[in-house]
Amino acid sequence: ETYSDKVKRDERFKKLEDSDLKFFESVLKDKNYLITNEDDLDFFNEDWMRKYKGQSKLVLKPKTTEQVSEILKYCNEKKLAVVPQGGNTGLVGGSNPIFDEIILSVANLNKIRSFDEVSGILKSDAGVILENADNFLAEKGYLFPLDLGAKGSCHVGGVVATNAGGLRLLRYGSLHGTVLGLEAVLPDGTIYSSMDSLRKDNTGYDLKQLFIGSEGTLGVITGVSILCPARPAASNVAFLAVSSYEAVQKVFTGARRELSEILSAFEFMDGTSQELTRRYLKLDYPIESGDYPYYILIETSGSNKEHDDEKLETFLGNAMEEGLVDDGVVAQDETQLRNLWNWRESLPEATAHWGGVYKYDVSLPLKDYYKLVEATNQRLSERGLIDLDDDSKPVVEAVGYGHLGDGNLHLNVAVREYNKEVEKALEPFVYEWIKEHKGSISAEHGLGFQKKNYIGYSKSDIEIKMIKEIKNHYDPNCILNPYKYV
Ligand code: FAD
Ligand code: MLT
Ligand code: ZN
Repeated sequence: ETYSDKVKRDERFKKLEDSDLKFFESVLKDKNYLITNEDDLDFFNEDWMRKYKGQSKLVLKPKTTEQVSEILKYCNEKKLAVVPQGGNTGLVGGSNPIFDEIILSVANLNKIRSFDEVSGILKSDAGVILENADNFLAEKGYLFPLDLGAKGSCHVGGVVATNAGGLRLLRYGSLHGTVLGLEAVLPDGTIYSSMDSLRKDNTGYDLKQLFIGSEGTLGVITGVSILCPARPAASNVAFLAVSSYEAVQKVFTGARRELSEILSAFEFMDGTSQELTRRYLKLDYPIESGDYPYYILIETSGSNKEHDDEKLETFLGNAMEEGLVDDGVVAQDETQLRNLWNWRESLPEATAHWGGVYKYDVSLPLKDYYKLVEATNQRLSERGLIDLDDDSKPVVEAVGYGHLGDGNLHLNVAVREYNKEVEKALEPFVYEWIKEHKGSISAEHGLGFQKKNYIGYSKSDIEIKMIKEIKNHYDPNCILNPYKYV
């Protein structure tokens, strides 16, 4: 992606000089915590989809919150622009620079601070990798209340900065509810902390909420306090084939009614997303009879395996009898369960690896949920842009999957290369369609750079004005994550 047609460098920002490097070295006290080498910079400049790439000449990797504070205070005074970065797995071009912004990576803030085994409250540095936090909790019999395919790379602070949703939001709720407190450094170097907050705290504005989902535009999150549930002793996964979208909705209402408190995930995948996954993983479909238009992954989590098995069995039996489910498999052991989840979690890679992917992470009323994928396919077909097996067409497939239990669809347009004609066919068409159907243009990935010009499709003028006022109040020089959605 080139930026020249979309945005110009803001000349109010100072360019990096040797004197700045000397200052940062004096703060970090170790040259290894500054990255200036072209090859090493590439990872930080480019995003996971290889769609966005900036030209930063410097990555800073502080070890303490105080160092973050000194760095930001200096950058604010000198008007040096900064991009906060976690695991760099964001999917909207929010974690990478656009021009020469300094990248502030929190990867070295990587310690668990404390865990209270009675309340389940985890206090952690922002740069702890999500999977490491969850493994730590597993040893104590607890679970991180968010899980997603990028867990091996994304950070606890990064998911909070994004307000990521993931695979079990249906069960454990959003980070707006589970995060109890934060530590964050404001652009002028002020350290804000609510890390000692308890579950209930009605004393004025809940300031931490401003940082949850702020995508690095208001402050750098350095610490997270989060309430963790007990780790379920029993889990089941069922992978189901369904012939109509009507039936998918009925299976969902049935699952909520019959599986009730043990339902922990309800994931949707269309047939073409499965075909891409099959080709990418070079594996057979989880359901041998293969080739259905829709698939569902249902997970149950509870404390009593027998009780859960019985409930799931009855539910699946009823769904088969009513003709809602055509075929299915239920994981018989931990390995099969992991394999079914791996299949689901491979979808982002399966759609990205053909050359590129245009991603639209959206919320829609369930009655219209899948119609967006159909409308997009129709538009790409009418323009002669799409063919699964014809390499001369820019688009491989437009597929849909996502967290149906949360009304969250991922429309993914897998392409052979990033292509202006395809982008013009998709945008603003997709955003207009979503607005018309009363959805949100970002359910969980945020706005970042990708959707910076489209916020108006989901927020009113008054809301946008209030967002800008808050931004201008805390970051009057706009040094934090410039050129993004605010
Ligand atoms: P980054 O990508 O580094 O940053 C994301 C944003 O947060 C940027 O704007 C950045 O500036 C800001 N930021 C990062 N750290 C900080 C900090 N400490 N302080 C302030 N700002 C910060 N998302 C979902 O919601 N659900 C999913 O199921 C899901 N699955 C995914 C699967 C895969 C394979 C991949 C690659 C991504 C997936 N995502 C999913 C996207 C999701 O946004 C990220 O995985 C995660 O939220 C970002 O964490 P990160 O540490 O990598 O942050
Ligand atoms: C997912 O649900 O797999 C993630 O949000 C990533 C994606 O949308 O591809
Ligand atoms: Zn998702």
